[in-house]
Amino acid sequence: MSLTAHVLHMANHPHNADWSPESWKACTAVQQPSYPDANELRSALGELSSLPPLVTSWEIEALTSQIAEAQEGKRFLLQGGDCAETFDDCRSATIASKLKILLQMSLVLTHGGGMPVIRVGRFAGQYAKPRSEDTETRDGVTLPTYRGDLVNKPDFTAAARAAQPWRMVQAHARSAITLNFIRSLVDGGFADLHHPEYWDLDFVQHSPLRDEYQRITREIGQSLRFMETLAGSPVHEMRRVDFFTSHEGLLLPSEAAQTRAVPHKAGWWDLSTHLPWIGYRTAVPGEAHVEFFRGVRNPVGVKVGPGTTPQRLIDLLSVLNPSDEPGKIVIIHRFGAHEIGKCLPPLVAAVQAARRRVLWTCDPMHGNTEMVTVASGPHAGTRVKTRKFDHILAEVEQAFEIHRMKGTVMGGVHFELTGEEVTECTGGARGLGDEGLMAAYRSRVDPRLNYEQALEMALRIARRLGA
Ligand code: PEP
Ligand code: CO
Repeated sequence: MSLTAHVLHMANHPHNADWSPESWKACTAVQQPSYPDANELRSALGELSSLPPLVTSWEIEALTSQIAEAQEGKRFLLQGGDCAETFDDCRSATIASKLKILLQMSLVLTHGGGMPVIRVGRFAGQYAKPRSEDTETRDGVTLPTYRGDLVNKPDFTAAARAAQPWRMVQAHARSAITLNFIRSLVDGGFADLHHPEYWDLDFVQHSPLRDEYQRITREIGQSLRFMETLAGSPVHEMRRVDFFTSHEGLLLPSEAAQTRAVPHKAGWWDLSTHLPWIGYRTAVPGEAHVEFFRGVRNPVGVKVGPGTTPQRLIDLLSVLNPSDEPGKIVIIHRFGAHEIGKCLPPLVAAVQAARRRVLWTCDPMHGNTEMVTVASGPHAGTRVKTRKFDHILAEVEQAFEIHRMKGTVMGGVHFELTGEEVTECTGGARGLGDEGLMAAYRSRVDPRLNYEQALEMALRIARRLGA
């Protein structure tokens, strides 16, 4: 940072005088791999820190002000994508179908809620995963766990499981390719509201939800034509939309190498993504992840769950947003349908009492994961991770109800989903049961809503928003 930028930074952020992109190194850092070769790590980080950033501070500021509006109930946040991206997922069809389902969901939510939707993908950098164990043992052999493509490879060999620093540089390239394709599609007219048929995934034609979705696109088309008749010209703002990126800020050396000072603005920006979030396992005041993210100017997501006490949450907010800036904090609560009724109200009450500004959003996925044994068919006996559509929906509905009763804004939802026809979560309009899970189970990590289940979820939430 130049001297002027540094002085400006200190003046604007006196509480940050003791912060630097490296200050987290003095704290306990959980969920980090150990890199066998320190020189190789240094070279890879040197390269990563000299490459152009993936996003800009202007875009981040735009997102912050939209989140500030969402905090006041004027926008709704839709965050979604894969649990983990893999380098192999960087394919045009996969990216386009993820974009399509997010566009369809946001259309339905905008229509239902009568307010703009902030679209945030879990993409272009969602490559690192927290794990419950550091090692995995098979047949007497113990190796490091797979921590996501950002760190190592899933194959059970010593070479694949060793943490490889250059994967951070590869991930930056894959993120850039993904983001470039998304930006080109969106800027080129793919997201044009006049042509929602561009986003029809093939199977929309065969879906039990087709009629309801098509009614909504028809109604939007009619109101667009009405506005254009009034205005006497096409409404160009409807031609393009904003898409923001997000990922769990887990691998701190990678985040730090992409954190920069920019000309004419104070402070430090994590330019690897617009909205980094701190995972449930790493949201601990005094530990490295909170230390790192307290110093960046990005808005920051914080996962909270059954283990988060009201005091812990207030401590997190005072560290991450000491001056209570609007648009800065997105709380992503993930309790599970059976816990939310007990766990959420005390947290909401504590934040209200402390008069803290946050955006409350609900992740109804991570508290509703269960293991089932496939009972019949060719895969009988197989144990798989799944989630029930009804539990996911029940958690979202309770979240709306709790926030309504407390007088707070339920400002967004966070889903693990894909635009493809996978069979990883059960339930939904087609009534997928446990016996059907193995037909197209592709996730290596958490089970995702498939295209139809995601659209159905949006339709249900839209009804709720409209009510
Ligand atoms: C995730 O979002 O994929 C995740 C690991 O969530 P959490 O930190 O809430 O468990
Ligand atoms: Co997940």
